[in-house]
Amino acid sequence: MTPLLEARAISKTFAVGDGELTVLHEINLKVQAGEMLAIVGASGSGKSTLLKILGTLDTPSGGELLFNGESFSRKNDRELARFRNSALGFIFQFHHLMPEFSALENVMMPALIAGRNKAGIEPAARELLARVELDHRRDHRVAELSGGEQQRTALARALIMQPALLLADEPTGNLDSRAGNLVFDLLHGMCRERSLATVMVTHNMDLARRMDHCCTLKDGVLLAGREEKD
Ligand SMILES: Nc1ncnc2c1ncn2[C@@H]1O[C@H](COP(=O)(O)OP(=O)(O)OP(=O)(O)O)[C@@H](O)[C@H]1O
Ligand SMILES: [Mg+2]
Repeated sequence: MTPLLEARAISKTFAVGDGELTVLHEINLKVQAGEMLAIVGASGSGKSTLLKILGTLDTPSGGELLFNGESFSRKNDRELARFRNSALGFIFQFHHLMPEFSALENVMMPALIAGRNKAGIEPAARELLARVELDHRRDHRVAELSGGEQQRTALARALIMQPALLLADEPTGNLDSRAGNLVFDLLHGMCRERSLATVMVTHNMDLARRMDHCCTLKDGVLLAGREEKD
């Protein structure tokens, strides 16, 4: 079966001062439709760098990225932006919502950017906010929401365009365990309901264990399985 997402020998080298720093060494990775993959690894091991490349937010120094078997190497910035908007959902450690807009407006934003009309998209946005248990906070400005509520809003926003792949970089990293578990339970349940593929970077081994697969990034190489911490 053609993978939804495939990374072939992805490398990333940064220029640092007079020298260079290679963070990723020929990473190979396949994500099938509906599959949930966790990536763990020490701080600085390159997890965010890899996730950004998988999300076409950064370009690799070498290797190739394919989505449904189609290569990205020849796509221009505009095509990539359109692809990200329609096929990918993102959640980061810090929510990147617009604080002065309401939760509902934030959830609708990717659809408005894609040119959909507000009346058409609002019912789906309301439904998503209800699903993340925020119908009572719909009209609050994001700046007035708690950290957990902000991440649940970010989750609803990530799903409004019905993406095929959700990329999450430590979505619970900034929350206490109770709020973090609720965000993860919702993320997990909603991805399963929608057969949505997910790549999630996390430091939380309990959450990594609940995904279908787990890989560890170490010394720029992706290893199958978890490195047990003692
Ligand atoms: N734009 C850049 N220029 C130079 N070096 C960079 C750049 N971005 C990241 N790095 C370096 O690459 C390495 C990996 O960074 P990255 O943010 O991917 O790590 P991480 O695994 O996500 O860490 P954390 O768990 O702390 O979030 C780090 O050593 C970092 O300093
Ligand atoms: Mg990171």
